[in-house]
Amino acid sequence: MAKMEVKTSLLDDMIGVGDMVLLEPLNEDSFINNLKKRFDHNEVYTYIGSVVISINPYRSLPIYTPEKVEEYRNRNFYELSPHIFALSDEAYRSLRDQDKDQCILITGESGAGKTEASKLVMSYVAAVCGKGAEVNQVKEQLLQSNPVLEAFGNAKTVRNDNSSRFGKYMDIEFDFKGDPLGGVISNYLLEKSRVVKQPRGERNFHIFYQILSGASEEFLCKLKLERDFSRYNYLGLDSAKVNGVDDASNFRTVRNAMQIVGFMDHETQSVFEVVAAVLKLGNIEFKPESRANGLDESKIKDKNELKEICELTGIDQSVLERAFSFRTVEAKQEKVSTTLNVAQAYYARDALAKNLYSRLFSWLVTRINESIKAQTKVRKKVMGVLDIYGFEIFENADNSFEQFIINYCNEKLQQIFIELTLKEEQEEYIREGIEWTNIEYFNNAIICDLIENNQTGILAMLDEECLRPGTVTDDTFLEKLNQVCATHQHFESRMSKCSRFLNDTSLPHSCFRIQHYAGKVMYQVEGFVDKNNDLLYRDLSQAMWKANHSLIKALFPEGNPAKINLKRPPTAGSQFKASVATLMKNLQTKNPNYIRCIKPNDKKAAHIFNDALVCHQIRYLGLLENVRVRRAGYAFRQAYEPCLERYKMLCKQTWPHWRGPARAGVEVLFDELGIPEEEFSFGRSKIFIRNPRTLFKLEDLRKQRLEDLATLIEKIYRGWKCRTRFLLMKKSQIVIASWVRRHAQQKRYQKIKSSAIVVQSYIRGWKARKLLRELKHLKRCNEAATIIAAYWHGTQARRELKRLKEEARRKHAVAVIWAYWLGLKVRREYRKYFRANAGRKIYEFTLQRLMQKYFLEMKKKMPSLSPIDKNWPARPYLFLDSTHKELKRIFHLWRCKKYRDQFTDQQKLIYEEKLEASELFKDKKALYPASVGQPFQGAYLEISENPKYKKLKDAVDEKIIIAEVVNKINRANGKATSRIFLLTKNNVLLADQKNGTIKSEVPLGDVTKVSMSSQNDGFFAVHLKEGSEAATKGDFLLSSDHLIEMATKLYRTTLSQTKQKLNIEISDEFLVQFKQDKVCVKFIQGSQKNGNIPTCKRKNNRLLEVAVP
Ligand SMILES: Nc1ncnc2c1ncn2[C@@H]1O[C@H](COP(=O)(O)OP(=O)(O)O)[C@@H](O)[C@H]1O
Ligand SMILES: [Mg+2]
Repeated sequence: MAKMEVKTSLLDDMIGVGDMVLLEPLNEDSFINNLKKRFDHNEVYTYIGSVVISINPYRSLPIYTPEKVEEYRNRNFYELSPHIFALSDEAYRSLRDQDKDQCILITGESGAGKTEASKLVMSYVAAVCGKGAEVNQVKEQLLQSNPVLEAFGNAKTVRNDNSSRFGKYMDIEFDFKGDPLGGVISNYLLEKSRVVKQPRGERNFHIFYQILSGASEEFLCKLKLERDFSRYNYLGLDSAKVNGVDDASNFRTVRNAMQIVGFMDHETQSVFEVVAAVLKLGNIEFKPESRANGLDESKIKDKNELKEICELTGIDQSVLERAFSFRTVEAKQEKVSTTLNVAQAYYARDALAKNLYSRLFSWLVTRINESIKAQTKVRKKVMGVLDIYGFEIFENADNSFEQFIINYCNEKLQQIFIELTLKEEQEEYIREGIEWTNIEYFNNAIICDLIENNQTGILAMLDEECLRPGTVTDDTFLEKLNQVCATHQHFESRMSKCSRFLNDTSLPHSCFRIQHYAGKVMYQVEGFVDKNNDLLYRDLSQAMWKANHSLIKALFPEGNPAKINLKRPPTAGSQFKASVATLMKNLQTKNPNYIRCIKPNDKKAAHIFNDALVCHQIRYLGLLENVRVRRAGYAFRQAYEPCLERYKMLCKQTWPHWRGPARAGVEVLFDELGIPEEEFSFGRSKIFIRNPRTLFKLEDLRKQRLEDLATLIEKIYRGWKCRTRFLLMKKSQIVIASWVRRHAQQKRYQKIKSSAIVVQSYIRGWKARKLLRELKHLKRCNEAATIIAAYWHGTQARRELKRLKEEARRKHAVAVIWAYWLGLKVRREYRKYFRANAGRKIYEFTLQRLMQKYFLEMKKKMPSLSPIDKNWPARPYLFLDSTHKELKRIFHLWRCKKYRDQFTDQQKLIYEEKLEASELFKDKKALYPASVGQPFQGAYLEISENPKYKKLKDAVDEKIIIAEVVNKINRANGKATSRIFLLTKNNVLLADQKNGTIKSEVPLGDVTKVSMSSQNDGFFAVHLKEGSEAATKGDFLLSSDHLIEMATKLYRTTLSQTKQKLNIEISDEFLVQFKQDKVCVKFIQGSQKNGNIPTCKRKNNRLLEVAVP
């Protein structure tokens, strides 16, 4: 959101100019200076229109972080400072949104940063395109194909520690949403000569060093390799180690990458076996051996290495040995076998090694393609990334066939660059409806023609020479060139037209020179024919095909005797020409994006900018021309909206808002600014500005205007700020003032109030004190008066008292004197009448008098006659204590007697019985106190009245003393049955309660003892005399509600009848005779679960337990 609001532009904070098109003046010096200035400020990217120039910084810059990716994501190309991400984003978005297939063409010299650039593009696209598990796997596989190919196809060269020795074009395929689906990689001409020989200071392909440093001992042993680099002839010794490169860790990275890309374990194994075999091939050496026929023949010096190779690759040792010694030429069904001399044998060995390695490389590419190819058949959008080896020129005419091929390829790329850039430019003018004027520029088509023309091209002639029968050498090829191309403007040789009459001595004999678009290159013709032929003896390919190693077998399909093909395989040159042609066709269908890499110095060093070197590259890359072409029509163009947005502040009508269409706004703006009409042109969607000066003028005006605007904004802001501050202060001041006033008033009021209170209190105090003083005075006066009066009265009283006392003393004295006088007189007179015991008599009289008084008083205070009245008057004199108590006792006895005298005979009897009961049970049986209040009724059952008991009544003719229902306890189980208990004068009877049938009759003489507990229960046992008639059934255990009465009556009746005291035993444990057995009846304190009723339980044969609550 914020991003949208802050409009930025390439033109902001620019160091030098970000887009060379705007360079003014435009010449080589200013161009280089601009690059240098930017390079010194770490700005390694600069635009020419939509082309990105990238200068290799040779050190890592912090401009490839994920934050940077986010910054460039979905932004306009010219919105931020130049960056390879801006180009990648533009390409990706136009692929995704406008459905245009893209290609990204990265060119530049070796070491200029092409491969790095291609990786940056891929990683940017990977970062911004779709996400998800499947997509991520595709991305990962695409990215991980790089380390694998780099290990096998890159090497350290003098120019670059990680120089790609093959051309690579990778199509990344996307679906309609822009999610990656897969990819296809094409490889171009691996520099295979490096396998057998490397120039000074260079290395073989990385993978050899990586295996030897990184593989485990075990793995090396399996591959029959030793860790020591110096053991291998193919590894140049002088620069086996590269600074800052860890071969061992890279080896792990490569293996890991192979796994991610999808190599099976056995495939990886096979690949490394082939690499090992190549390495070991270099150690096979030959020695000459003369044969009888005089021809030289070679022999393998030490067969051990050969044996190991054969073991590793599953080749029959004799077959391979023969292939190194003989060559079979087949012509028209005839086989001719010739021996090889030592040189030929070495040639054959190296050819085999090169072929093995380059075919392995191609196989790797095919295998990777298999893994990363898109799995769907739907239409795909394609983004191609081309990272091809750069233009290479060696000094001292060291350029050979490889350089020729590489430079040809670059020539073609330049061609397509020219075509597409111009075409694009032209198309834009047409699209925008601007008139197009033709521009002069150098078209290198003529050079391409020199090389690739089917009849007269150098490649065609080389092929012709290779196929020609007869002796063919590199010199004959050069001769031919001289004949055919002599007249060509861009071809030079010692014999060429321009020097027909004067040999060009700057050219050695065996060389020719081509004036490439990037400069003149002198090629050494030696080896051209051979390399073009790319000959591998058939015996060797057949030997390989026979290998018991599936990968090697697959690498040499032409070795299959069944598929023998006598036709020559296409030459290297023609193969390359064809593949370049296909590539060009492919590129032409896509929207091109250019990254032109420039190398700032030859030392691979950071911070060094070699002007001459850069100048050379700029020249041959035609960058200046590129700018000129771009500026030929109009130097700058911009869509109307951003243009109006950027410059609208320059004109009153458009500032701050323009309501109409953007184009009209721009028209008004330009009109107002008075820009000459020839300086700009209105396209359909863009404004075209012819001269950068105009743009810079606009920029200057804008900058100035921005300053003015800034000042204006600042002014208004400051005014606003001050005003708001003032208003705030004013408001605050009022508030503060009101508070202060209020506070002051409050304080003043408080002061007055407190003063008033003080004054008031003083006055009140003064008044009060005055009153108090008066009152006090009054009081004192009163007191004084009282005191005076009191003193006065006192004085009077004391005087009176004194007088009275005096008077009394005198009277008393008179009386005493009188009494003494009288006593004396009486004593003198009555002494003869007084007896000696008069004192005692007086005492007795006094005593009598007191006694009399006591009794008289007692009479008045006598208590009631009720025997239970406890009142008794208090004792008046201590000496009467015992009398008083005695009197109380006598009185009680007397009133009891009085009470008893009222009783009838019957009542007397009842009380006798009660007395008896008291003697028997008081303090012995807990049941007793409850029985005191109950009258003894005896006959509870009206036997005579109830007709039911008539029979019973008839059977008993004596007087019935007790008739009551009791419970008889069953001897067996302790259960109770009701019985009528009758006591007569002579007998005890038990009868059935229902009908009165007599159950038992015991004469009183046979009752020996009655037993009962001391507790609060009604159980009792009637013990019978042993041997008596009644005792046969045993003693009775009964329970009754009137136990005390029954026991008392039984006792009294027995006593009166038999004159014997009945034994009554009170104990909580007694024995009862039941038939033969004696059973112990035990009373225990039981629970209250049955209420207040005691329960009886038979515990065992000898124990009956009664639980009493
Ligand atoms: N953008 C970059 N940032 C940092 N170092 C770079 C960058 N581009 C290239 N280099 C350095 O330059 C070396 C050569 O780059 P490379 O891409 O292999 O060159 P080329 O493929 O053009 O031969 C790399 O190994 C790296 O050290
Ligand atoms: Mg490279």
